[in-house]
Amino acid sequence: MHVGLLGTGTVGETLGSAFVGLDLVVCMGSRSTPNDRAQAWVAAQGDTAGAGTFAEAFAVGDVVFKCTCGAHSLEALRVAGADALAGKVPVDVANPLDFSDGSPPRLAVVGDDSLAGQIQLAFALTQVVKAPVIDLLTELGWSRGRVRDLGGVAAARATEMYLMLWVSLMGAVGSAQFNVRVVATESSE
Ligand SMILES: NC(=O)c1ccc[n+]([C@@H]2O[C@H](COP(=O)([O-])OP(=O)(O)OC[C@H]3O[C@@H](n4cnc5c(N)ncnc54)[C@H](OP(=O)(O)O)[C@@H]3O)[C@@H](O)[C@H]2O)c1
Repeated sequence: MHVGLLGTGTVGETLGSAFVGLDLVVCMGSRSTPNDRAQAWVAAQGDTAGAGTFAEAFAVGDVVFKCTCGAHSLEALRVAGADALAGKVPVDVANPLDFSDGSPPRLAVVGDDSLAGQIQLAFALTQVVKAPVIDLLTELGWSRGRVRDLGGVAAARATEMYLMLWVSLMGAVGSAQFNVRVVATESSE
């Protein structure tokens, strides 16, 4: 499987390095090339890592992870171009954070809307990539029983708003190194 990455920040680097570690071909995309961070990342990886524009990352990827800052998510996809997106679905790990009032941030999209929903509407995305994403998660070490499929894009309203719970938990835990686990009764498994 080939992976496209949109984003040269910590998230793009972290996911990209994990995918290279699985011997996958990975292309890290940026708005324009050459990009210093992308070049430094490629230099630190093995032969399966490369860099290009956002459009080139889409062209390479069977699965494309969008790791740009959330506030510019739609803009990043417009930079890639509608042709690049044809037949592809970006897996968006960006958070639509609004720091205009300082920290902690607010969510820029809430309620009956979501960033993922806005992306789907703007680019008329129809494909579903659940199977390859679940395969990748298990390759990265998640057991299948711990991966929960929440359904269609409407569920993104909830997963994006989880970020606010995550921010509160980070304050309580005193670290960002934690995760949550769903514990269900046997009858609901
Ligand atoms: N889901 C999770 O578990 C999780 C965890 C942590 C963070 N995140 C989210 O992941 C995202 C990435 O975070 P990060 O810290 O790695 O990177 P970041 O600094 O938030 O974003 C860097 C990327 O955004 C692109 N970008 C900046 N301004 C842009 C614009 N005007 N138009 C288009 N693209 C633009 C940059 O492009 P260039 O390369 O061309 O400069 C770069 O590739 C954020 O939304 C963050 O909230 C998610």
